[in-house]
Amino acid sequence: MSDGSRPSAGLRITRDEASRMVLGIETSCDDTSVAVLENGARLRSHWIASQDVHRLYGGVVPELAARAHLEWLPKLVRSALEEAGIEAHQLDAIAVTRAPGLVGSLVVGVAFAKAYGLALGVPVLGVNHIEAHLHAATLELGESPWPAIALVVSGGHTELVRVGGFGDYRWLGSTRDDAAGEAYDKVAKRLGLGFPGGPAIDALAREGRADAYDFPRPMLDRPGFDFSFSGLKTAVSVALETHGEPPYPRALLADVAASFQAAVVETLVRRAMAAVDHEHARALNLGGGVACNRELRARLAPECAARDVALRVPSPRLCADNAAMIALIGAWRLARGEAPDPELDAAAALEASGLPIG
Ligand code: KG4
Ligand code: ZN
Repeated sequence: MSDGSRPSAGLRITRDEASRMVLGIETSCDDTSVAVLENGARLRSHWIASQDVHRLYGGVVPELAARAHLEWLPKLVRSALEEAGIEAHQLDAIAVTRAPGLVGSLVVGVAFAKAYGLALGVPVLGVNHIEAHLHAATLELGESPWPAIALVVSGGHTELVRVGGFGDYRWLGSTRDDAAGEAYDKVAKRLGLGFPGGPAIDALAREGRADAYDFPRPMLDRPGFDFSFSGLKTAVSVALETHGEPPYPRALLADVAASFQAAVVETLVRRAMAAVDHEHARALNLGGGVACNRELRARLAPECAARDVALRVPSPRLCADNAAMIALIGAWRLARGEAPDPELDAAAALEASGLPIG
């Protein structure tokens, strides 16, 4: 379950601040994750416990997620410290996701972090989950060239952000309804492919024809950088209805999966590259579970290469929800000498994060 240690050139931390150990905690949705990051760059340990129980319900059940975080957190913290080869008292700070996400899940992580921080006498820093996704690639690829465009595509978010450096963000666009991953999950459910749907559609699409159905490319005819994916889900349902009742033959499902994926990927690629051009960006950083998508990576690569823009995609563990990226933001804050917030609390909405959105 561990990533092991990977050095990164991403942070300029001075000699005085060397060897600082940050414990990262992530519980915003259905993955419980804990990491120990040394000196803002070296991942000493990284554990992620995925909650398979939600598969039974075809989606994340908030109450079950919160309970599972409560059960897993103490065990993962113990394992992460053990693997990192340190004792709890050697930690310099704790970084925990405080927003956005499922509030019941966030509360478990924040309450745990505050209690643990109090017991150890170390600062507890509240981290914005989306800000962490913006920078996750740094852990493996070093610091990004700036300015960069970040595309964060997950089950809960579709965000396009201009990043001028750490702490320098301008929101360009978001989804107006369903997130990209949510569209994958809903369409997969309709196709009888289970939860989460992204990996299943990604795999099945390989067998299908991407031009079998002409699904809409939502919002591309409009200016700006916003997205909309709910109409696409309806278009898939309408297409399936013309073939009668399920079960549908595998070839039909593969064609629908491939055509749906082509529509999502084309929408993401065109919007992201328009943002890159508009902002004269030098890099495109991906984050979120949908960034694992093969087709998305394959389509973005030539677009970025043609513009001499660095396409930076983290490995799947760092694309998905993980504590390493939370610890990274915490380490950055610590290095800047930011004071911990004594009023630290969990918040469901991105707007509560203090980041410049919209
Ligand atoms: O970032 P993440 O692990 O959790 C949050 O939603 O915050 O993202 C999970 C989402 C799910 O909607 C899942 O279906 C989608 O990422 N996903 C994918 C792929 N792998 C995961 N979507 C498309 N293609 C994939 N290969
Ligand atoms: Zn996420």
